[in-house]
Amino acid sequence: MKTNKAIVRPSGREFPIDPSSTLLTNLQKQGLSLESVCGGKGTCGKCRVRFIRGAPPPSESGKRRLSAKDIDGGWRLACQVKVGGEVEIFVPPTSGEAPTRILAEGRSVGEEVDPEAKKYFLRLQPQKLDRPIGDADLVLEGLGTDEVHIPLEIVRELRHMLRVSDYRITVTVLEGTVRKIEMGDTIDTNFGLAVDIGTSTLVVSLIDLSSGEEKAVSVGLNPQRQLGADVITRIQYCKEKPDGLDEMWAAVTDKLSEMIEQTCEKVGIGQVDISEAIVVGNPTMQHIFLRLDPSPIGEMPYAPAITQKVRLFAGQAAYETLYPRVAPSSIVTPPNLSGFIGSDIVGGIISQGFLESEEVQLMVDLGTNAEIVLGNRERLLVSNAAAGPAFEGANIGCGMIGVKGAIDRVWFDEEDVRFSVIGDVEPAGICGSGLVDSVACLLDLGILDHTGRMSDCSALREGLSWKIKKRFREEGKEKRFWLSDKVYISQKDVRQVQAAKAAVAAGIEILRKKMGIEMKDVARVMIAGAFGTYVNPVSAMRIGLIPNVPLDKVMSVGNSALEGAKMYLLSRRVRKVADQIRDIAELHELSVEKEFQEEFVSRMAFG
Ligand code: FES
Repeated sequence: MKTNKAIVRPSGREFPIDPSSTLLTNLQKQGLSLESVCGGKGTCGKCRVRFIRGAPPPSESGKRRLSAKDIDGGWRLACQVKVGGEVEIFVPPTSGEAPTRILAEGRSVGEEVDPEAKKYFLRLQPQKLDRPIGDADLVLEGLGTDEVHIPLEIVRELRHMLRVSDYRITVTVLEGTVRKIEMGDTIDTNFGLAVDIGTSTLVVSLIDLSSGEEKAVSVGLNPQRQLGADVITRIQYCKEKPDGLDEMWAAVTDKLSEMIEQTCEKVGIGQVDISEAIVVGNPTMQHIFLRLDPSPIGEMPYAPAITQKVRLFAGQAAYETLYPRVAPSSIVTPPNLSGFIGSDIVGGIISQGFLESEEVQLMVDLGTNAEIVLGNRERLLVSNAAAGPAFEGANIGCGMIGVKGAIDRVWFDEEDVRFSVIGDVEPAGICGSGLVDSVACLLDLGILDHTGRMSDCSALREGLSWKIKKRFREEGKEKRFWLSDKVYISQKDVRQVQAAKAAVAAGIEILRKKMGIEMKDVARVMIAGAFGTYVNPVSAMRIGLIPNVPLDKVMSVGNSALEGAKMYLLSRRVRKVADQIRDIAELHELSVEKEFQEEFVSRMAFG
C-alpha cells in the first residue's frame, strides 16, 4: 500500500500526511505553524515551503505569488497544494518560531489591593441543643453579615464540610455570594488571573490576590494566527467555514488552558486556587473566546453580539461547555465599548489613568485597527482607525511579526545602512518597528520623496556612499531597497506604510479637533502594545505616524491592556469605574466621519 509521508527538513521529522487536506493543514496538525496571513486563500504568499522531493505542480495562485526561479527551485504555497506519496520538504526555520518579544508588562497607575474575590477563614462553634442554628446561618454569623448569599449547592456541601473540618473552613466570597468553601485555612492561596488575548499573542499573569503581587507569567502565540493574520481575516474565516468559529474558539481556549496549567505549575498551585480570571481582548477575540459569532462585527453596521461584561461561574452549564479544561471559580470578560473598541482598550484607559488625570493624554494602540484615546477625567474621546496589518508585517513583501529573524531596527551612517535582527541571527524578514525605521531612513537619504515615491535608481542624491547606492535596485517592474540579500523594502511596501500611517494620523487629528485643543496641550503621547514598545518614536514622528511633539512627551506604555486587567482584578473601585466607561466615553466611528477621507488623503504625504 502506498504510504503518504512527509519528511521535514532541516529537522528530519517524519509524519503521515492526509492527501485530501492541504499541505498547510497537514503541517499545522503537526504543530508546524507556518505564517498564513490570508488564512489559506493563496493571496499572501507567506506559507512558502520548498519541495526537495515530490514537488506537485504549482497552483495558479502559486504562479502569481512566486517567481519562476522560486517555482523551479521547488517552492510552493503550502495552502494551495495537496500531496500524496512520499515528499521531502524544507520548512523555513522561522516558521512557528516562538516569539522572543511578547509584552507581558506595561506602565500602570494602579496600586490598590482590594479584590472582588475575597477569602475568609472561619472558626465556627458547632451547633448545640440550646442553639440549633442552621449551617448557612452559622457561616453568615462567622462572616458578620447576613447580606451575603449562599447558594443551595454550597449549603448542600456545608453539612459534610463543617463536620469533617471540625468547623474550620475558608469561604470565598465573590460579588456578595459565597462561591467556594474549603476545609481548613486556605487564606494564603487566593489567586487570580489576568489574561490578555491579543490578535498575535497571549499572556497569562498569575496574581496573588492577598498581596497584589504577580507570581508567574506565561506567554505564547495566539494559534488563531494559523487561520488568519488579523481580525478581518478571522471574522471571514468564522463566516465562510461551517466549523470556522468552533475551530477558532478551540484553538485559543486549548492554548490558554495549557498556558494556565503551566502558570499554576510554576508556583505549585492548582487551578482550584484561582478565584477569578479577568480576560481582556479586542471585541473579535472576546467574541471567539465566548464562542459568539463575530461575523456581524465585520459588516455594516458593525454591531457586536454583546458589549456588556460577561461573567461565568464554575459549575454553570455555559462555563463547563466553554472551558472544560480550566477551573478558576469564575471568568469575567470586562465590557467592550463597540464592535471595534474592546476591553483591551478599556484596560488601557484604566491602567493609564485617563479617568484620574487632569491633563489631557493621548494613547494610540497600534495594530490592524489602531485604537485612539484622547482625553482626561473630564472628557474621553475614543476612536479606531483601520490601519491595515502593515505594522504587523502583513501585506509587506518581506514582512513578518517581531520574532527571531526579524529586522527590528534600521539606521544609517555615512558609510552604509545598518540594522539589528531579533535573536542576532540571519535576517529572515522585517517587522513593524524595522519597517517604520526603514521608511524614515529612506526619506532622510532622499531615496523617498515627500509623496512616498521612490526616486530613480540612477538619480540618487549626490554624496550617498556606494554601499548605500548599491542597495537600491530596480528589479522587473519594482524598485527595491535591499537591507540584506533576502530582505528588501519595495515601493509597494512604502505605499502600505503610507496608508496605515495616514489612517492613524487622520484619526488622531479628528479627535484633536473634536476635543478643541492643540497638540501642545497634550501632556503625554502614549504608544501602547508590542509595536509601540519597539517602534523608535523619532522614526514614528518622521513618517507622521504620531504627532510632532517634544520627544519627552512620548512614552511606550507596553501591554496596557494586561495592566488594566490586573487592576480590574485587584481593585473593586477600578472595576466599578471600568464597568461604567461605556457611559462616559464618546465613541467616534471614523468610517462615518465626513472629514475622515479628507484628512486621510492630506496625511498620506510625509512631512
Ligand atoms: Fe498560503 Fe496565504 S498564501 S496562507
